[in-house]
Amino acid sequence: MATYLCKAGRFAALVPFQFLLLIVADSAADSFLYGGCSQTNYTPNTPYESNLNSLITSLVNSATYSSYNKFTIMGSSPQDVVYGLYQCRSDLSMPDCATCVARAVTRLGPLCPLACGGSVQLEGCFVKYDNASFIGVEDKTAAMKKCGPSDGDNADQMGRRDAMLAAMSGGYGGPYRVRGSEDVHGMAQCVGDLTAAQCQDCVAEAIRRLKAECGGAVFGDMFLAKCYARYTTSGTQNYARSNHDSPHSESEKTFALIIGLLAGVALLIIFLTFLGRLFGRNGK
Ligand SMILES: *[C@@H]1O[C@H](CO)[C@@H](O)[C@H](O)[C@H]1NC(C)=O
Repeated sequence: MATYLCKAGRFAALVPFQFLLLIVADSAADSFLYGGCSQTNYTPNTPYESNLNSLITSLVNSATYSSYNKFTIMGSSPQDVVYGLYQCRSDLSMPDCATCVARAVTRLGPLCPLACGGSVQLEGCFVKYDNASFIGVEDKTAAMKKCGPSDGDNADQMGRRDAMLAAMSGGYGGPYRVRGSEDVHGMAQCVGDLTAAQCQDCVAEAIRRLKAECGGAVFGDMFLAKCYARYTTSGTQNYARSNHDSPHSESEKTFALIIGLLAGVALLIIFLTFLGRLFGRNGK
């Protein structure tokens, strides 16, 4: 894998970042939740930049067939290494996952110009890259918290919420958890690089903070660096698959467009390699 990526890195600069801007199909899964950038910057037109472009291409490409993946792009020197991953919400279809990751990286460009590291969370997916390794590391730093207005005096509903959250924070829940009954629904998601034990620990912490900080709110979101937990009561917040409102044909069209673009890029690389050989021979 690493060898393949190193070779791909040479061509990454040829792939215009902006080609991803063509992929604009709005859906609920693509709504922006939060983003952040590292304080350190890289210099343009360096191996780090071309490795980063290569990483972005790998992430977008991979999201067409897998809901989670991680990449390490090696350079010729250690300071050019870039690490990255993405995690789609596990209930998303592959076309929706690919669209979401493509949207997320187009957000990262203007959000973190020249930053060594950056991350963005949309409703349906999370994307992060950095020059320091963070893959496999459990990180419970709070990234984003949102609490809805107070539920008033609906002790009954809050009791059902507490029971639902307790069930969701139990062990053996897996990296994607959905719980709900009547008017109370919750979900939790870990990033795929965590082990089952790390994920369990992270989700339990997110739920603990959710209860502590969102008290009697009608809905709550607690996003930590490597996992999150959310709940909603009486449909006050829409994030479940059943509430997905984009027509499927639209995401299929986008999926076809991504595949088409990737094929186009491959053809361009082959063509340029051919041109390179041709000029190489004429030069002798
Ligand atoms: C990341 O890049 C910054 C800026 O170039 C540098 O100061 C820092 O040491 C790098 N971190 C690692 C782990 O290479």
